[in-house]
Amino acid sequence: MASSDAAKVPKIKLSNGYEMPMIGLGTWKSEPGKVAQAIKDAIDIGYRHFDCAYVYQNEAEIGKALKEKISNGDVTREELFITSKLWNTFHEPEKVEPALRKSLSLLGLDYLDLYLIHWPISFIEKDDELFPKDEHGKHLFKVIDHVDTWRAMEKCVELGLVRSIGLSNFNSQQIQLILDNSKIKPVVNQVECHPYLNQKRLIEFCKKKDIAVTAYSPLGSPERPWAKPDDPNLLEEPRIKSVAQLYRKTPAQILIRYHIDRGVVVIPKSVNKWRIEENFNVFNFSLAAKEMEVIDSLDCNGRLSLISTMKDSPDYPFDAEF
Ligand code: A2P
Repeated sequence: MASSDAAKVPKIKLSNGYEMPMIGLGTWKSEPGKVAQAIKDAIDIGYRHFDCAYVYQNEAEIGKALKEKISNGDVTREELFITSKLWNTFHEPEKVEPALRKSLSLLGLDYLDLYLIHWPISFIEKDDELFPKDEHGKHLFKVIDHVDTWRAMEKCVELGLVRSIGLSNFNSQQIQLILDNSKIKPVVNQVECHPYLNQKRLIEFCKKKDIAVTAYSPLGSPERPWAKPDDPNLLEEPRIKSVAQLYRKTPAQILIRYHIDRGVVVIPKSVNKWRIEENFNVFNFSLAAKEMEVIDSLDCNGRLSLISTMKDSPDYPFDAEF
């Protein structure tokens, strides 16, 4: 059953010829103790794409689940598409390959399908802290030329440690700098994207440059730790609810299908089997232009990711127009 369900998932062809399933399971905030079961359930349901990152601190448990599913024959490594991300403390060129090897070892893999620079923002490395801060609680930023980090990413492709490399949270100018100075082009830019922040201009820019876009926080990350009680909630948004009623789908399914219908890869996170399944059941309908317009009209530059503490970085990406 799982393999035929996996076959329902459309794939996007990346600029280097590899294919990426258009839905993946997000794992940010998937707690150790829950994430292994979520990965195994997702594989049974038909997911083949898993979006991971060193900073999520759960790669070891994800690795155990992948190993179990591969060794009992439920899935092969070749069928899977595994992404991880280079954390901000490892942007110095000599730290890139060791950081990738660390994620590979935690995940129990000998190659990744995709490795992304997680943020265009570099931190000083201090005592293994992921978010090193000074005595006033301010991030300890560092200026490292993204092109130097990128060259070290390219070396990882040449070493066979990763098939494709890309970016995350980069604005159009930062992407262009990499494009102008690379041997191996970034195939993906992963950014926050949902109807309150539909990223229309950045997506158009990336499409022109043959860069696929992956949408994170597609459901508005309702469990983000900094959410305030009166923040708008996408899953409760009346216009999303009315589209959901029209299509006899749930709001989450509409929010996920929205990306697939605009050619954007989407990575909803859940650790609950019934929601992992609900989020996957989006391949028997598509949204008409009229409903896409309604959803697009919700755009309000509503960025939800916690970025205010990063504003002091000279590389802060979100002051640019797009
Ligand atoms: P849980 O993991 O407990 O199922 P995003 O992908 O935008 O970051 O959102 C992830 C959040 O949305 C998690 O809190 C997750 O909770 C919740 N979630 C995932 N799928 C659904 C769904 N189908 N309906 C409602 N909430 C969902």
